[in-house]
Amino acid sequence: MRRPLQNGERPRSWGFWTEVKLDALGRYLPQFTRASRRAQATLYLDLFAGSVDNVRRDDEGRQFFGSTVRALDTEPGFTRLRFFELGPNADRLRQQLRDRYPDDDRFDVINGDCNKEIAGCLSGLSDDGLDWAPTFCFVDPDGLDVDWPTLRALAQFKNSSARTKAEMLILLPHTSIPRLAGWDNAMGVDDRLSAKITSLFGADSWRAIDDRRQSNDLTASEARHLYLSLFRFKLERELGYRKTLTIEMGNEQGIPVYVLVFATDHPAGDRIMSSVFRQAREQSAEYRAELRERRQRERDERAGLQSLFGADELAEEAAPVYMETTELSGSAELPDWLLHRIERD
Ligand SMILES: C[S@@+](CC[C@H](N)C(=O)[O-])C[C@H]1O[C@@H](n2cnc3c(N)ncnc32)[C@H](O)[C@@H]1O
Repeated sequence: MRRPLQNGERPRSWGFWTEVKLDALGRYLPQFTRASRRAQATLYLDLFAGSVDNVRRDDEGRQFFGSTVRALDTEPGFTRLRFFELGPNADRLRQQLRDRYPDDDRFDVINGDCNKEIAGCLSGLSDDGLDWAPTFCFVDPDGLDVDWPTLRALAQFKNSSARTKAEMLILLPHTSIPRLAGWDNAMGVDDRLSAKITSLFGADSWRAIDDRRQSNDLTASEARHLYLSLFRFKLERELGYRKTLTIEMGNEQGIPVYVLVFATDHPAGDRIMSSVFRQAREQSAEYRAELRERRQRERDERAGLQSLFGADELAEEAAPVYMETTELSGSAELPDWLLHRIERD
C-alpha cells in the first residue's frame, strides 16, 4: 500500500533484488540483537545509509523502507546506531529520521565519506567504552565505493578482550568490475576505475584475474567467481573472520547484479544468516517469477493490440539470457597463480 512519502520526496527506485536484500537485513537484525541480549549495549553502523523511502522500479506504487528504518525498528533495539551519508542526502536523511523518530536519541547521521569518517566514529565509540559491544555493520554502496582500510578498521574496532569481531554484511558489486557482466567484454579499465578496484581489494592482486580475463583464459563467470573468492579470502585470512557466506543476486533474467558477503566469527551468526540467505533465495525466485509473469501478461496484452496497430510498432523484449542465483559458503580457496600474486602484494 502507498504511504505518504516523507517530506514529499520522490524516492529512489530499485529492482526487486534491493527489496530482497533489505528484507534479509530486516530478518537478520532482530536475531542479532536477541542473540546479544545479555550485552549491555549493541551497535549498528550503516556506511551507505541512503534514505527512508524506496520504491520498486517495476511498480512505483510498491514502497519499502531503507536500511536505517529497518535498523531503528529492530526489536530488541540497538543501543547506538551510526548512519553515514553524503552532503544533502545526509541532511535529508537526518531530517526524515528526526521526523519519524522524534524522541529517539540512539542514532546519529554522519555527513561525509564513510571511508574518511569511520576512524573518528569508531574512536568516539571506543572513548565511550563501547569497543566490546556486539556490533553489526551494513556496507551497502551503489558501486565500488568502500575502501579496504575501512573494512579493516571495522574488523579491528573491538578491543582484544572481545571474543568476536564486528559482523559485516557487505554488498560487493562484482559486476561493476569490467569484463564481467558478459555484455561488456570490450570495456577497458581506465586509471580511475583501476584505482577504485585496488582500493576495494586493498591491493592490486585483482589484476591477475583481469589479465586472464582479458586474454580469454577465464570466462566472465569464472572471473566473477574469482573476484568474489579473492574478497572472501582477504576477509578470512587477512582480517581473520572465521566464516564468510555469500549470496549472489540476479535480476529479472537471472543475470547477476551483485553479491552479498557476510563475515562473522560467531557460529550463531553463520547459522542464522545461512537461513536468512535461504529465505532470500526463495523470495528472489518468487519475485522474479511474479515479474516475468507480469511481463508476459503485458506482452500478451500488447500482442492482442498488434492486430490493431501492426506487429512492427511493438518492440519485442529481449529473451532471458541465463538464470543464476548461487550461494557459496565453503572457505575461500584460490588457484596457485592467484595465491602467488597475493604473496607479492
Ligand atoms: C545503495 S545506496 C544505500 C541504500 C541504503 N542502504 C538503503 O537501504 O536504502 C548508497 C548510498 O550511499 C551514499 N554514498 C555513496 N558514497 C558514499 C560514501 N563514500 N560515504 C557515505 N555514503 C555514501 C549514496 O549517497 C547513496 O545514498
